[in-house]
Amino acid sequence: MRILITGATGYIGLSIIRRISDTHEPVAMVRESSRTELLPPNIETVEGDITDIESLRGAFEGVDAVAHLAGVNPGSKNSTQVVSEVDEDTFTAVNVEGTRNIVNAATEANVSSLVYTSTTNAHPDVPYDYESMYVDTKRRGGEIVSESSLDYTIVHPTYVMGPYDYRLKRYNEFRLAAANAILIPPLYTPGRINIVHVDTLADSIIHYLEEPTRNRHLVSGRNIDRRTYTRQLASLSDRHSFVFPLPFHKILLPFIVRLVDAIGLANVSVESLALEEHTATVPEIHEERAPVKRKSWKQAVTDTYRWYQDVRLL
Ligand SMILES: NC(=O)c1ccc[n+]([C@@H]2O[C@H](COP(=O)([O-])OP(=O)(O)OC[C@H]3O[C@@H](n4cnc5c(N)ncnc54)[C@H](OP(=O)(O)O)[C@@H]3O)[C@@H](O)[C@H]2O)c1
Repeated sequence: MRILITGATGYIGLSIIRRISDTHEPVAMVRESSRTELLPPNIETVEGDITDIESLRGAFEGVDAVAHLAGVNPGSKNSTQVVSEVDEDTFTAVNVEGTRNIVNAATEANVSSLVYTSTTNAHPDVPYDYESMYVDTKRRGGEIVSESSLDYTIVHPTYVMGPYDYRLKRYNEFRLAAANAILIPPLYTPGRINIVHVDTLADSIIHYLEEPTRNRHLVSGRNIDRRTYTRQLASLSDRHSFVFPLPFHKILLPFIVRLVDAIGLANVSVESLALEEHTATVPEIHEERAPVKRKSWKQAVTDTYRWYQDVRLL
């Protein structure tokens, strides 16, 4: 199949491209500003900005299926802006209207399958009791996809980890573990986290491109507590890390974090901690979900660590 990948230069897109190249014909959608040097050699590229429907016209020629990953998401820096600077209009333009443009162009081009990558908390079975422009706009993007006449699949991954994190989304956590930190906030809280290996997610997306379901699917690991996660992180470093308990107390935590920040032990934003108590956890019946063979969360943590070492960031 000739498969158009939007967001091809992003964390998940790069993994899909690497895993799809032998079996399918990938076409990477890029922008002028995209770091195309990150793509494997000889990958066909096509220019397009999902917020500009005119720029998408040529991109769908001969395309059988679309993996739609382009979007703005927290903790990420794309080729044009740092996400903390992204306002509501941009979230809407990219995650909602951009998705509408992709759905319209795919419908016009008669593609046989489209996979949209949403997020954990936009899944109807996952509790969502805080305000987030990101989750709201991913939900609205998903509604556009599910109301279309396309043979679609919507995947809802949990916390993605693994190699090719060129945008350094997970770097802070690993940097602290490797630096013999005496404290690893905000990881050591009573909360839980659900990690999925980026390869498992990439393989799941490829599976659903081949076999669309017209449905939504969580792609998840096990919910693990942060103590277990932090100890695993610390065990990867040759040095001895002291893991110091950081209480998760909604009122006290911001003060503790400011103090930690002030003495230079970690670069943590209080805002990011508001969502840290339970990161991408799912109801028990949705744990360990994927339509393909899954890699474990420990493998995801180890592979992320090794990749940072390979690119000499650790
Ligand atoms: N990573 C996770 O843990 C996670 C978890 C759940 C869901 N997701 C979802 O999965 C999708 C992919 O995530 P990711 O982590 O791979 O993203 P990412 O690393 O932040 O990459 C975003 C990609 O979108 C492209 N893009 C942004 N705005 C665009 C526009 N206007 N036109 C065309 N391309 C545009 C970027 O291109 P440039 O290279 O030009 O910037 C980049 O290729 C996202 O939609 C996200 O919501 C991610």
